[in-house]
Amino acid sequence: MCGIAGYIGRDQAAPIILDGLSRLEYRGYDSAGIAVYDGEKIHMQKAMGRLRVLEEMTQHGATLPGFCGIGHTRWATHGSPSDTNAHPHMNEENTIAVVHNGIIENYAVLKSRLEKKGYRFASETDTEVLAHMLTEYYRGDPVEAIEKVMHRVEGSYALGIMFLDHPHHIYAARKDSPLVVGEREDGKFIASDVPAILHYTRSVYYMENEEIVCLSNEHTRFFNVDGESIQKEPVTIDWDIHAAEKGGYEHFMLKEIHEQPQAIRDTVSPRIRENEIDLDDIGLDEEKIRGLRRISVVACGSAYHTGVTGKYVLEELARIPVEVDLASEYRYRNPIYEPDSLTIVVSQSGETADSLAALRDAKAHGSQVLAIVNVVGSSIAREADNVLYTWAGPEISVATTKAYSAQLAAFYLLALKFAQIRGTVTPERFRTLLDALRRLPGQAESLLAQKEKIQYFANHYLATEHIFFMGRGIDYALCLEASLKLKEISYIHSEAYAAGELKHGTISLMENGTLVVAVATQDALYPKTVSNIVEVKTRGAFVMALTTFKHNDMEKCADYVLYVPETEGPFMGSLSIIPLQLFAYYVSLGRGLDVDKPRNLAKSVTVE
Ligand code: F6R
Repeated sequence: MCGIAGYIGRDQAAPIILDGLSRLEYRGYDSAGIAVYDGEKIHMQKAMGRLRVLEEMTQHGATLPGFCGIGHTRWATHGSPSDTNAHPHMNEENTIAVVHNGIIENYAVLKSRLEKKGYRFASETDTEVLAHMLTEYYRGDPVEAIEKVMHRVEGSYALGIMFLDHPHHIYAARKDSPLVVGEREDGKFIASDVPAILHYTRSVYYMENEEIVCLSNEHTRFFNVDGESIQKEPVTIDWDIHAAEKGGYEHFMLKEIHEQPQAIRDTVSPRIRENEIDLDDIGLDEEKIRGLRRISVVACGSAYHTGVTGKYVLEELARIPVEVDLASEYRYRNPIYEPDSLTIVVSQSGETADSLAALRDAKAHGSQVLAIVNVVGSSIAREADNVLYTWAGPEISVATTKAYSAQLAAFYLLALKFAQIRGTVTPERFRTLLDALRRLPGQAESLLAQKEKIQYFANHYLATEHIFFMGRGIDYALCLEASLKLKEISYIHSEAYAAGELKHGTISLMENGTLVVAVATQDALYPKTVSNIVEVKTRGAFVMALTTFKHNDMEKCADYVLYVPETEGPFMGSLSIIPLQLFAYYVSLGRGLDVDKPRNLAKSVTVE
């Protein structure tokens, strides 16, 4: 996501801040900005595009003299990438400057309240509400104003703040978004990630949720959200710089697998308000949703797989016929467009050439296009009629993991909302499903603890030549993704099969020791998949099964069983995918391959 770097000390602040931000570039961003306090005035400079542009504009910081400052690289969430939307944001009087990572979920309510009081907004960002709220609550004590704001905002944030009234001070606070404070004899630092400051100090305080810090040349003072002073101990960082960029993980893929609970949370929680799903921004009013006769989902690769899951979920809950197409096929197959239909284009990068072409074709034929996209301001986001953003943050590993999970979550939101409006679920069932959706991130977190078990199993299969994945319904959709993940990073040939289809041909490939991964999480289909497991085992296959804890009778028929926690059937894919992503990861690792950059693949496929 976005990056924060701040400095106060005896050196010029701007060059240090720009250097810190450059060390966060790997996280992805679309604009950058810096504010430096020279003791009289807070000077600010922002630039869309690469950090290089800001560096050139400021002559590497020389045009912004001062010993105290905050900087930011922005990855757009609310509001397109632009100079105006870049951080820092200031209040109208230019007396308070703020940088922010995270999402203020109740910003719309806060903004309209502030507007009614006469505050004027310059940007489209959620962050700007913070600058105005701080102005509203500021009575001379910055910590008190920050506290008051923290009590009123919902969502996640790491903040760096300067007040004109308090020269040579930086304030920072966090909730659900990382923030560290660094110290050395002649200076103090704030950063959203350790790599930003590792060249300057290895003595670091990790800010915990709802903590505030005030940094000056003389003091580092920590407070809780009630303004009470708290004591914290610094830790010494002994990672090397390279490991630090990956947050201590060996690969970006492993880091991103671990970020999935947060990606799901960030996609879902801003859209749930008082037990209702708020999708007002997707351009579909209730009448249109009630009248929908067909949905076409178009995408490539893993995004296509989320569409396959989306079909099962939308059809089951909202009872709308859904067709799912590979964009490369769709664009040339002369598809039939009908009135009262909706085209959904799914893409992490928002730049995939085939998906973009399919979008243009759909629009040219008069179909309304909704894009499920991760990168704000990307081509698909710009050209679609409406966008449902997934807030997974920048994904660096070529093999997608967290964006896939966030796309699934976006489909769940749509299916639930459509089902409620179309009256295809009872209010009780809606509530049960909504609760299940809220619990998903926590359940996903608990699954990550099974890592060693999966690594142990993966290590036994490093030399395998073929692997088959099988399942039924949503489990089949999940197998498509699990198989692709394995193929792309381990170079092992694998196939995903609808379990009932095996006996129509592929079962002839089963022989002694063939590895079959069987997914059986759907209660109604469980006995059917168990029968298919027996069929392949009879032909000599070795079966690793993945099921929910209550189906421990699986131990009787499969050779190895992985368990996942239970959620509502339509959402099971979000949990089952995690062990299988880890499986692919550990096989690739064990084979000594380049996990994050598999051969022949690119992160964004902008050519046909
Ligand atoms: C697989 C993977 C690809 C992408 C596909 C579409 O791990 O990442 O299959 O899903 O290239 O890319 P986007 O989602 O950017 O349109």
